[in-house]
Amino acid sequence: MKQILFCASEMAPFAKTGGLADVAAALPKQLKKLGHNIKVVLPRYYTINKSDLNFAIGNIGVDMGPLGTLWCAAYKTLYEGVEIYFIDYEIFFGRANLYTDYNGYSYPDNDARFIFFSKAALELARALDFRPDIIHANDWHTAAQPILLNTILRQDPFFQKTASVFTIHNLQHQGIFSKRAFEYLGIGWEHFNMYEMEALGALNLMKGAVYHADKITTVSPKYAQEIQTPEFGFGLQEHIKAHAYKLFGILNGVDYDEWNPKTDPFIAKNYDIDDLNGKKLCKQDLQKTLGLAQREDLPLIGFVGRFAQQKGIELIAAATHEMVHLPLQMVFLGIGEKWAEGFFQDIANRYENVGCFVGYSNELAHKIEAGSDLFLMPSLFEPCGLNQIYSLRYGTLPIVRAVGGLDDTIQNYEPQTKTGDGFKFYDATKDALVGTVRWAVDTWLHDKEGIGKMIHTAMSKRFDWQRSAKEYERVYELALETKR
Ligand code: ADP
Ligand code: GLC
Repeated sequence: MKQILFCASEMAPFAKTGGLADVAAALPKQLKKLGHNIKVVLPRYYTINKSDLNFAIGNIGVDMGPLGTLWCAAYKTLYEGVEIYFIDYEIFFGRANLYTDYNGYSYPDNDARFIFFSKAALELARALDFRPDIIHANDWHTAAQPILLNTILRQDPFFQKTASVFTIHNLQHQGIFSKRAFEYLGIGWEHFNMYEMEALGALNLMKGAVYHADKITTVSPKYAQEIQTPEFGFGLQEHIKAHAYKLFGILNGVDYDEWNPKTDPFIAKNYDIDDLNGKKLCKQDLQKTLGLAQREDLPLIGFVGRFAQQKGIELIAAATHEMVHLPLQMVFLGIGEKWAEGFFQDIANRYENVGCFVGYSNELAHKIEAGSDLFLMPSLFEPCGLNQIYSLRYGTLPIVRAVGGLDDTIQNYEPQTKTGDGFKFYDATKDALVGTVRWAVDTWLHDKEGIGKMIHTAMSKRFDWQRSAKEYERVYELALETKR
């Protein structure tokens, strides 16, 4: 049994913009089931109501260098058996969105906000007298934690035995800030060098965490390899290569309590592998919801995701005018880059076989997983990707680019043997995407036996969190050995 402090900037259902929130909800739950004493720490964003929480502790002082000592409080709640703590500091977190303003621009003080959060979570552990064996930090928002543990907190009696594990969910966002932000960390300038956390004169928090963490993980095995190459390394490939001796790729799991067509409360009719009739009703319901004709004879292709470059939205946009003339229907659910919000809405207005909802809707995400026949995910890079795995469980066959977790989780269709559970392509080009969509549509229309077998294979697959959580346990063990 270990004492684990798990820190993240989002967790479903409290605050979510993407898959990190799903992981921060599911992994701690599973670790708890394995017998660990785990506490999760999140910022208390404006949207999380204090009156739904219990007051835990006041007067947590956080030294922020030039900003002085900032005083915050912590609230807590029990969620599915796991203790969740919220750092309450109105000035930093009392805002409508998590990371950006209404125009989609990052808040200018994100450096102070998240270095503060990282430090406050450590001080909270101290205030609770909760001595963690492991601090599990996630992405750049909490990257300061492994840095602090291995520098100023190294000799601190309270954290002396604490090892750090740092999980990279997305290397594109590294937490790069002006040199001035370094002073918030409160560590000596000798650490501001190109081997640790300096990059082109700026502070790079992710780089620092890769250097200082006892162990690093990525959310799929393939992504652990990819980030050591220029195509996927976002400039950190050499740095990561130098620390690859402590890098592990652990595939995310799926919370099947949440994503299961047999029990899903959001879909028109529940169904499962032994009776797919309900899926037909879900398709009709989805068509109705997004204003499409009730066509059973056409394949319906779904997309759910952040409208961000990562998700291949430029490829989709370039391919759209060809795709819409194929015998298919398409639905898009997303929010993000403004041009994309306008583009997909416009396509939906213009073509009657396309539907779109710009916004964030968990209910609609579930309806799309259940009601679509095929699921589109042509990402430029994908550290793991959860939607394609949800799709498998719903018998909705993924069309993916063979990168990262998409490649690790989807098996390409082989028409000769009728094996596989999705359609893959390799080049990030419009033609490769259109060609593969054409292939999938053709297969759906003319190879019913093959499609039936694929659906069966897809729905039988399981990506349980228990397996992943056990791999994290092993990494925690190794991190502690390193620390000793
Ligand atoms: P990423 O973390 O890169 O965004 P993932 O595939 O890991 O990608 O996870 C995305 C998660 O966010 C999924 O649970 C997906 O259903 C959800 N999601 C993304 N966009 C939306 C949206 N507009 N409405 C509802 N859910 C969304
Ligand atoms: C990131 C990645 C996504 C991954 C998720 C959860 O946001 O973009 O691929 O599934 O984190 O680990």
